[in-house]
Amino acid sequence: MATALLLLLQLVSLASASHHYGGTVSFSYKGRNPDGSFRVDFRNRATYDGCQYSHSWSCYNNNCGFVTNQQRGTIDRSTNAPQFHRQWCETETVQQRKVPTDKPFQMRASSCCWAKTRNRVSGWRLLTQVDLGTRSDTGKPNRSPDIAILPFLRVSQKCPRTYKLMSFDPDGDTVRCRYGNIRNIECSGCNQPSGFVLDQGSCSLHYRNANADPSVFGFELVVEDFPQRPISLSYTDGTQSYKAPLIPMRHKRALNNTYLHGTTPPLSKLPLQFSFLVDPPAPSCVDGLYLPKFVHPTPANGQHINAEVNKEVEIRVRAKASHATLHDIIISGPLNTRKHRSTHGDFVIRWTPGPDDVGDHYPICFAVESVIDPASTKPPPAITYHKDHVHVPESPQSGIYQSEMRCVLVNIGKRLIKSHVTCHESSMTVEVTRSSLPGLHEDHLRLNDPSNTACNLQRNSNSTHIIAVVPLNSCGTQIEEDEENLVFKNEITTVDNVNDLITRNHLLEVQFYCQYPKCGNVSQGFTAHRRNVVVWDKGFGKFTYEFEFYPNSQYRKMVDPGLYPLEYDVTERIYMQIEAKSTVNNTQLFVESCSAAPYDTPNYWPTYSIIENGCTVDQTVQVHPKANPREFRFSMEAFQFIGLHDQVYISCSVLMCEAGSSGTRCSQGCINSPLTGHHTHRKREAITQSARHFISQGPLRLKRLAESTGSPGTFSIRKTAFF
Ligand SMILES: *[C@@H]1O[C@H](CO)[C@@H](O)[C@H](O)[C@H]1NC(C)=O
Ligand SMILES: *[C@@H]1O[C@H](CO)[C@@H](O)[C@H](O)[C@H]1NC(C)=O
Ligand SMILES: *[C@@H]1O[C@H](CO)[C@@H](O)[C@H](O)[C@H]1NC(C)=O
Ligand SMILES: *[C@@H]1O[C@H](CO)[C@@H](O)[C@H](O)[C@H]1NC(C)=O
Repeated sequence: MATALLLLLQLVSLASASHHYGGTVSFSYKGRNPDGSFRVDFRNRATYDGCQYSHSWSCYNNNCGFVTNQQRGTIDRSTNAPQFHRQWCETETVQQRKVPTDKPFQMRASSCCWAKTRNRVSGWRLLTQVDLGTRSDTGKPNRSPDIAILPFLRVSQKCPRTYKLMSFDPDGDTVRCRYGNIRNIECSGCNQPSGFVLDQGSCSLHYRNANADPSVFGFELVVEDFPQRPISLSYTDGTQSYKAPLIPMRHKRALNNTYLHGTTPPLSKLPLQFSFLVDPPAPSCVDGLYLPKFVHPTPANGQHINAEVNKEVEIRVRAKASHATLHDIIISGPLNTRKHRSTHGDFVIRWTPGPDDVGDHYPICFAVESVIDPASTKPPPAITYHKDHVHVPESPQSGIYQSEMRCVLVNIGKRLIKSHVTCHESSMTVEVTRSSLPGLHEDHLRLNDPSNTACNLQRNSNSTHIIAVVPLNSCGTQIEEDEENLVFKNEITTVDNVNDLITRNHLLEVQFYCQYPKCGNVSQGFTAHRRNVVVWDKGFGKFTYEFEFYPNSQYRKMVDPGLYPLEYDVTERIYMQIEAKSTVNNTQLFVESCSAAPYDTPNYWPTYSIIENGCTVDQTVQVHPKANPREFRFSMEAFQFIGLHDQVYISCSVLMCEAGSSGTRCSQGCINSPLTGHHTHRKREAITQSARHFISQGPLRLKRLAESTGSPGTFSIRKTAFF
């Protein structure tokens, strides 16, 4: 009975599982276990129409050992999927395997079904071949090529494009990319989509021409590596095997029979499968109009980036599309790679290698997508029609334009420079251990802008550490803002000559930053005068906000908390000020909402709205001139809402932005009429939709003086210890 049920469930899941978009595998030898067995890490990326799925691997031949540890996570997802599928989602599963020998083995994943393809790819069939034999040329176990691709590529019908697939080999082997040809093992459809040309040797895929279609092409490629010169592989059981270069050498006499025997088998075989959608024609194929064009400082395709263990790698991507809106970046990289968008429109990809990654190479691929915003109120830009370019996309689905794909390779080395960053409200301190910088003296090191003597590294350094105390707003510190954080960056670099501020000899670059969350909730203590509220210490730094009462609109001297409880008549004005304690002058404070509620719990209903979406809701609210952009001063009449409850709390949601930047929430001010604000749809990609934080104190009480007279009451602000 149980078996029958299981079978039934499997059938059901197979029938509804038409949702695969592709997958890749690479492996990395991680050394011997104490018992002599071998440790191999497999990184398997799988793309489906949901994030909950992954490939299931089985041993196809020889001994594949067993999984000792597994980690899985989402790399990226997008709702720009083809028709009938709401999204695509790429996950990576990192599997640690314990394999008893270093002899070759093959693993296989297969099931049904791909998302609807136009080239008869139905089931998915992926094969991985591993050979850990010790190479005669390197003296080390054979390594896998490093491959990567974006799982979901799309191109406009009439815009030919070339994709140079990332195929790096750490052993220096020749890498070949070919179409799978062993039916049911390497591939399911096993065909070569028409309209494309694959250059096997350079792993370049050229898109030439195909009709637009809502179904994807399923690509089932196989990546193989071959030594450049004949080599042998030796195994711990005493046996050996021989591998020959892919293209037999001209001088055949240099080879003995072993190498000429039969067809040349590869060292490793890796699956590289992905989906390719051909969209209706774009109004223009020129990069930078509809199709996003990468501009400086976006790294070039194939660029190598050197990284250190436990230090974050940052890849900055900037694109332009004058006739469309940049919508999103899509990425594929190792687990825990994150993408962000700064308020200046740059995309930032960040990843931190772990101690286990030393010596490894990780490709990271990206492309930027633009859309013609269907909700845009501006008339669409004038388009010059060429006779072949007649179709202007109408639905948002067909108005998505993907840039070229670029992939970079991150090489991970040991941690060389020992540095430590501490973040304060208005400055950051960097300490670099001198012993990790042999031969360098602080005379030859400087911050971004050393013109101010306060930025001199000699000021705070001692005999063991080079110490820089860097104000968040000078010494060349750069400010950046993304969805959630304000980031302040600077770097220590080497100079040849103390007086020479232009020629820089980049022997060393210690880049550092402090990251502060932008958003916080702050409440005023009506019964308790709390100490400053420290918001959200996740991340690297924190901002502190103060919320104080003032007797009048002069805002000279705050009400002494010792005088609590304060008493107000119901129509009397309450003067309040919220202030960010940071003195960084290129930031500004924005109060997004304030409300009063009878209980100290977020989302308690009913609440009395004072400010919403940056708009004043209570009719009596007045905003007063402030001394600096990090203050907010307002007053309101003591309100009747309080009279309905024994006590109320006032809480505000605040955020910090880069000052003077036009793309920030702060610069937008009041958005949405508060009357319709509750239910209006916000733009999905709006950068301000990040988590807010609720910190509350209170309560505030209304004490009726003479209930019989029915006269207005007064507030009593009791003082109670909260901390
Ligand atoms: C073939 O040549 C290689 C390299 O020259 C050598 O190491 C190997 O032993 C030779 N094998 C035989 C069977 O002669
Ligand atoms: C130098 O400063 C660092 C950081 O403040 C401290 O840990 C270290 O002990 C200091 N070294 C000496 C010799 O004072
Ligand atoms: C911010 O402060 C720094 C250092 O005090 C000063 O150099 C800079 O001009 C100030 N910027 C603005 C916009 O006030
Ligand atoms: C901050 O306050 C807002 C509005 O009351 C609320 O939606 C949000 O969840 C709060 N943030 C946290 C972290 O509680």
